[in-house]
Amino acid sequence: MSTDRTPGLRPVREAGMAEWPAIGELTTEVYGALAPSSPPPSWTEYLTSIAVTLTQPDQARRLVVDLDGRIAASVLLCPPSSGPTGRLENPYPELRLLAVRSDYRRRGLAGLLIEACEQRARQDGYDAITLHTTSLMPTAKAMYERRGYLRAPGLDFEPGPGFVVWGYRRPLA
Ligand SMILES: CC(C)(COP(=O)(O)OP(=O)(O)OC[C@H]1O[C@@H](n2cnc3c(N)ncnc32)[C@H](O)[C@@H]1OP(=O)(O)O)[C@@H](O)C(=O)NCCC(=O)NCCS
Repeated sequence: MSTDRTPGLRPVREAGMAEWPAIGELTTEVYGALAPSSPPPSWTEYLTSIAVTLTQPDQARRLVVDLDGRIAASVLLCPPSSGPTGRLENPYPELRLLAVRSDYRRRGLAGLLIEACEQRARQDGYDAITLHTTSLMPTAKAMYERRGYLRAPGLDFEPGPGFVVWGYRRPLA
């Protein structure tokens, strides 16, 4: 893990509950800027759901990186998830809602957060970690693939007609 690109970078830490609204704002702003000229019908609802997801108490950990005295990047590390029937739909932890403020990009912050999630998943005894991405996030998709994330079509879902959210899994050695 290299922090050379950003002198003074503090280690990844877990955010406290009082910081969750700020993380919600950061993430909504970052994902709002990703909307294409003709976003899928579910996109507005998706943006609304982001703030709710990030501010409601749950089992997920909210990991952040600070720079210049504020949160510059964040990610949600979720435990394995159950479907509506209680059946385990994804038996692995999932990294979600990775967001880096636009003025702090290309400094390795996303890499730090991804590695922190992988390290925690390993420590929790899992041999793989998962995530989802879409065609609206080509930089992230390429970054995950370079980091060893493999397509896992069994995790795909389609929130709107013709708009597929792609599942990925990375084995943790
Ligand atoms: C994608 C995103 C998280 C990357 O954050 P970042 O802190 O700039 O990424 P890093 O500096 O850690 O770089 C990670 C890798 O992506 C590459 N990269 C980052 N931005 C890039 C860009 N605009 N174009 C090409 N490559 C880019 C880096 O070179 C680096 O490559 P490496 O893995 O070979 O080292 C950030 O651009 C972002 O928040 N985008 C919008 C939200 C998003 O897409 N989230 C992911 C949802 S699945």
